[in-house]
Amino acid sequence: MPFKFEIPEVVQIDGVDGSPHPRPMDVKSERERQAKMNKTDGAPIVDFEGKSNPYIDYESIDLLLSLQHPRSGGYDEMCFIAMGQAKELLFKSLYFELYTARARIIEDDLPNASVILDRAKKIIRLIAGFWDVLSTITTDGFNEFRDYLDVASGQQSFMYRHVEFILGNKSRLMSDVHKNVPHVYPAIKSNFETPSLYDEVIRLLHRHGHEIAPECLERDWTENYEPHSSVEQAWLEVYGDPSPTNELYMFAESMIEAADLFAQYRFRHFVSVERILGFKPGTGGTGGVAWLRKVVDHRFFPELWSVRTSL
Ligand code: HEM
Repeated sequence: MPFKFEIPEVVQIDGVDGSPHPRPMDVKSERERQAKMNKTDGAPIVDFEGKSNPYIDYESIDLLLSLQHPRSGGYDEMCFIAMGQAKELLFKSLYFELYTARARIIEDDLPNASVILDRAKKIIRLIAGFWDVLSTITTDGFNEFRDYLDVASGQQSFMYRHVEFILGNKSRLMSDVHKNVPHVYPAIKSNFETPSLYDEVIRLLHRHGHEIAPECLERDWTENYEPHSSVEQAWLEVYGDPSPTNELYMFAESMIEAADLFAQYRFRHFVSVERILGFKPGTGGTGGVAWLRKVVDHRFFPELWSVRTSL
């Protein structure tokens, strides 16, 4: 590093309540807010009881901002950690939306599932944008902290895996990565064994009168999804009426946009990694770029892609 730098302290971490549980807070009404504003004459509240304030407590912000610990002395490591953590949060937010969208699909509630999927797509777009920042990390800058990762890799991200699984990309190997972590594995296992959002959309097509092969409606959900001609035929029928009043058509187009955005996210990761690492192995044990090239080729909702050839 050609210059000296320091990481400014923003929290004295020894003073932080390290519990991950929600902190107790009051609930206020519109009437109380009005009364408070009358009392302060519209000035912001600046005096708080105790050693925290409600903004900090509502989201445990001091705890959140105590969790960035660069280890190497390399300048780019703080950027890598902050972006990595922010992405994990966005994957959590994305998973929640996809989880709820799937529940709405099971209830045949496509209008709400569509609204939720719209938000999910905006989140994916945001996550893909993180590569704008992460790709400013140079090869030299990355080399300064790479050894400190030990064998840590994004491949071990359970939050990312939840997203892959719920969208339909199941893998026992990628589930097994988490088998030794007792506070994380049960949720991964349950997601792994549950029909994905796409599996539920296929069941929805069936409920809407499209003929779907029985093996697509009931199967071992841990098996990775294999495209099926009956599903492609069902989409062909849906795409026979490409009008805004055909809610299945509109939902299918929204889904393929989500798959497209996710493919862009993976592609940007792949290209950024090639730019930063070249063809060196990854920290997680793979050949690096060679592994990611296979990841890039994967498409969610495969018959929505293949049906286009027949349209
Ligand atoms: C900016 C520097 C980065 C580099 C050089 C890099 C490199 C790699 C490499 C080489 C792999 C293949 C597995 C292995 O490690 O052997 C990988 C996988 C992965 N990385 Fe990154 N990565 C970077 C940043 C990130 C960030 C910030 C995240 C997200 C928080 C991330 C998420 C992932 C995920 C989820 C996988 C697994 C993909 C899959 O197998 O489905 N990466 N990364």
